[in-house]
Amino acid sequence: MSFLDLAKSRYTTKRYNANEKIADEKIQQLKEILRLSPSSINSQPWQFIFVSDEKTKSELASVSFFNEQKINEASHLVVFSVIDSVEKFEEQIRQNLPEGSVNYYNNFLKPLPETEIKSWLQRQVYLSLGFFLSACASLEIDSTPMEGIKTEEYNKILQLNGYKTLFAVAIGYRNPEDTNQPSVKPKFRLELENIIKSI
Ligand SMILES: Cc1cc2nc3c(=O)[nH]c(=O)nc-3n(C[C@H](O)[C@H](O)[C@H](O)COP(=O)(O)O)c2cc1C
Repeated sequence: MSFLDLAKSRYTTKRYNANEKIADEKIQQLKEILRLSPSSINSQPWQFIFVSDEKTKSELASVSFFNEQKINEASHLVVFSVIDSVEKFEEQIRQNLPEGSVNYYNNFLKPLPETEIKSWLQRQVYLSLGFFLSACASLEIDSTPMEGIKTEEYNKILQLNGYKTLFAVAIGYRNPEDTNQPSVKPKFRLELENIIKSI
């Protein structure tokens, strides 16, 4: 399928088929794809937690507001987290990145207030979300990106250390009765002329 067709057919799944699990081989591919996500200066300030254990998944579902049922019915829940200390991040890049990248960070990012550095780190993780949703579509896996979760509770349940939760994505296979499918509910987007300009 062309990328345009994938973009037209992927959608935020609201109901999953609880009996259909994603094969391990596809989960492995998704893990490799996340590892290959691009990020500014190759900063990679993230950790991704794949949850398939039903007990943990259901605990996380219970602190996910209106997303509870989706998570319980989905095959897996993937939690996206960002490194929580600027000092730790700086140590990570010193150890792993070429001097030019570290210099770029030191010159352009390090002088900024901590909140702006942290916002820059979070933006890298959001970029991996776009990559991941497209990857799911290409593997014919349905997905639900979710900011509607209690991130502090996620940190506790998952006992995160050095990272904190930003958002999560439920993945699995749709319930055929899901009314959010584009075949039932056409996608809404702003008109192309209003959001794309050509010069
Ligand atoms: C960062 C982010 C957070 C979102 N959070 C939720 C959520 O908590 N629950 C939900 O059902 N949908 C959530 N959505 C789905 C959006 O509402 C959806 O992507 C948008 O309406 C476009 O619809 P489509 O994905 O079906 O094309 C989220 C999407 C993104 C990108």
